[in-house]
Amino acid sequence: MAEVRLSGVNKFYGASQALHDVSLLVEDGEFCVFVGPSGCGKSTLLRSIAGLEDITSGTIAIGGRDVSRLAPSDRDVAMVFQSYALYPHMTVRENMDFGMKVNNFPPEDRKRRIAEAARVLQLEPYLDRKPAHLSGGQRQRVAIGRAIVKNPKVFLFDEPLSNLDAKLRVQMRVELEALHRALSATMIYVTHDQVEAMTMADKIVVLNGGRIEQVGAPMDLYHRPASEFVAGFIGAPAMNFLPVSTSAGQASFAGAPLGPAPEGTVKLGIRPEHIGLRPAGEGNLTATVALRETLGGDAYLYVRLPGETTMVVRAEGDTTLDHGAEIGLDLSPGRLHAFAADGRTLASGGAAA
Ligand SMILES: Nc1ncnc2c1ncn2[C@@H]1O[C@H](COP(=O)(O)OP(=O)(O)O)[C@@H](O)[C@H]1O
Ligand SMILES: [Mg+2]
Repeated sequence: MAEVRLSGVNKFYGASQALHDVSLLVEDGEFCVFVGPSGCGKSTLLRSIAGLEDITSGTIAIGGRDVSRLAPSDRDVAMVFQSYALYPHMTVRENMDFGMKVNNFPPEDRKRRIAEAARVLQLEPYLDRKPAHLSGGQRQRVAIGRAIVKNPKVFLFDEPLSNLDAKLRVQMRVELEALHRALSATMIYVTHDQVEAMTMADKIVVLNGGRIEQVGAPMDLYHRPASEFVAGFIGAPAMNFLPVSTSAGQASFAGAPLGPAPEGTVKLGIRPEHIGLRPAGEGNLTATVALRETLGGDAYLYVRLPGETTMVVRAEGDTTLDHGAEIGLDLSPGRLHAFAADGRTLASGGAAA
């Protein structure tokens, strides 16, 4: 177990910069998730921690030791990839054993570690099977088992669940959380899926264009996003944004007053689940339902407002509101986020950012 500390990490591929001055502390035992859109530098950052990429400048320390220039095998980390990368001709047991065998671990120790990993991952019935005779979820558990037997200071996961179907992904998410509790290990997990980030993380690191956009606990990012980017990325369906004009500290949209907003506010954001549904003529805004998407417990109304603006509003699953209905929307000031022209958050829920 160990903390991971990054200080001023820059990474160039030739002339193009993939990581910009990344500084970050992942605490001992923490489950930290790097999240962001494809190409934002998540894998580059994770691979830099693993030692699979050389960083251009800055330092990476694991457990207080500067590992910036050390080979991957000397960093005491274990990485699990999206592609399970199992040896097809080896059994589950041999796959888990392989790394320890080549590193001359004593046979008794190897046996003990395999037994322990198989127990934690519920792989005991499958130890003598080959990967071809396992399900996708079981293969991913073997890949994780290979990491566990190394007893690393830090586990690194790069989109490990992306190849699994939706149901299995949810199940593996729960299993990984249980594994984290059982091992109390430091884990860094990369995903482009904000739902995985929200559900699994102690700490989320949102990356955008190779830069850290914000670091925080899931509900911190949900309630107090530091930027329009984070506000739009965290939460599903995504936050709605309304272009507003402000005068004398009051914001308005298409002539309708929406309450106080800080100087410089050009957009207000509100989440679909924070909008109150009212009869037409009540609330702050009037809208027309364009489309209803029913999920069961919830329904989402896609509504039209003046000026080509659209919003998504959460409703009860059995709502009868549908295409063409006129409705009122109640935007409580306590639920509004105010954004400046450069994308910075000026206030969240009425409080200055
Ligand atoms: N080996 C490489 N050579 C050149 N550019 C790379 C290499 N690996 C990644 N990149 C670039 O670095 C950026 C970040 O990539 P990556 O870390 O893989 O993003 P993510 O994992 O968030 O999708 C991208 O613009 C990508 O094209
Ligand atoms: Mg990646």
